[in-house]
Amino acid sequence: MFNEAMAADSTVISSVLVTKCKDIFHGLTTLVDVGGGIGVMGRAIAEAFPHINCSILDLPHVMAACEGSENLEFVAGEMFQAIPSADAVLLKWVLHDWSNEDCSKIFNRCREGIASKEKLREER
Ligand SMILES: C[S@@+](CC[C@H](N)C(=O)[O-])C[C@H]1O[C@@H](n2cnc3c(N)ncnc32)[C@H](O)[C@@H]1O
Repeated sequence: MFNEAMAADSTVISSVLVTKCKDIFHGLTTLVDVGGGIGVMGRAIAEAFPHINCSILDLPHVMAACEGSENLEFVAGEMFQAIPSADAVLLKWVLHDWSNEDCSKIFNRCREGIASKEKLREER
């Protein structure tokens, strides 16, 4: 029920994001939605911007029944351990659940994810 409630919120917010805030996606080829739940936001971004490969990171039980698409991938994992590499990280309604110390750990994992993407790009 919680996951569906969050998805309902994301349905509203994502429609505004992909129509009114298009510019923030300019230049991105990959994006990871950390704590992205069942992927409503990520799916909306992937559909609106087919050139962006979106990953959704969340806990395994949350995404057990979720299916990806050509440019949408579900990654079961733990944001305190590692975040998939990407050009950009989206954190929607995640940080408010955690202490400053925990948020700092999440940000560090995000920074590592973005840095590893940059390293991959340099190596090409
Ligand atoms: C308040 S919900 C927000 C969901 C989504 N971002 C949205 O706005 O609809 C927080 C999400 O963080 C996920 N989460 C909590 N702890 C996590 C962890 N350690 N690693 C990955 N995801 C986690 C939860 O499963 C949940 O989907």
